[in-house]
Amino acid sequence: MAAALQPQHDPLALAGMDDVMFGRWVGLLEQRTGVVVAPQRKPFLVSAVRARMREVGYGNFNQYLEHISTPGAGAVEWATLVDRLTVHETRFFRHSPSFELIRQRWLPERLASGLTSVHAWSVGCASGEEAWSLAMVLHQGLLGHGSKLQFGITASDVSAAAVATARAAVYPRARLEEIPPLYRAEYIEMQGEAAFTPIASIRKRVAFARVNLIEAAAAPLQRLNLIFCQNVLIYFARERRRELLDGLAGLLEPGGLLLIGPGEVNGWSHPGLTRVIGQGTLAYQRRD
Ligand SMILES: C[S@@+](CC[C@H](N)C(=O)[O-])C[C@H]1O[C@@H](n2cnc3c(N)ncnc32)[C@H](O)[C@@H]1O
Repeated sequence: MAAALQPQHDPLALAGMDDVMFGRWVGLLEQRTGVVVAPQRKPFLVSAVRARMREVGYGNFNQYLEHISTPGAGAVEWATLVDRLTVHETRFFRHSPSFELIRQRWLPERLASGLTSVHAWSVGCASGEEAWSLAMVLHQGLLGHGSKLQFGITASDVSAAAVATARAAVYPRARLEEIPPLYRAEYIEMQGEAAFTPIASIRKRVAFARVNLIEAAAAPLQRLNLIFCQNVLIYFARERRRELLDGLAGLLEPGGLLLIGPGEVNGWSHPGLTRVIGQGTLAYQRRD
């Protein structure tokens, strides 16, 4: 990849990024991913871009930006850079009230009204913990309901590197404590002393893909029963959040549930969806 670039060493230019150049970088990132970098996060953007420029031998922000913006050749480098410019922090069972809403209420109610399969989407899955958590909850919740009940989860992220980590599904032992004991005992196996992975019956339920949320309309996902979109929209402009939520709402099957992180959007509603009142959750259900 580095060989395709044309390094220009200019350490003085690399020392700082003026506000005009910062604006150009912010604009490119928002246009391509929807992610907005606020002025106070300039140091983060500058250090991430600078670190990548050092790796590939660029000494000038402008030249590197031009390279990234070039159709074709720039796309490969962009794929690497976007991983550095996005935040991938996550945990197993990160927002436990959302998982409890599914376990205690949504799943039993849907099963009572004749649900025969569940297709879920974890949007912005980072390194996969949200998707694995959901797989454990669904597997447990569907036990005892007969082998005809199937479920599958699509987990996606704009970062190819995050998707690769999620697919590998190997996590350090210290993170075991994020998983409630019941699920840990049933669904986790050690990989040597220092790492663990979900067991095969959980792993086979999740398919990973690189999907840019702002192009999600082009992804072959529809008639979904569950959509987890948590800690993703916060990086987008307010107006864009509403557009994206309208798009996600249209992908839900009747009875399907959209779970957002509390506080991630204010005052949004959709004519086909009802707000589900559950403690500490922000969830909307498609009307039957
Ligand atoms: C903070 S993580 C959230 C992970 C998980 N959903 C959770 O709640 O723990 C945000 C993820 O959103 C992804 N992301 C940012 N912009 C995106 C976009 N346009 N399309 C898809 N994923 C995006 C990032 O790459 C990152 O992995």
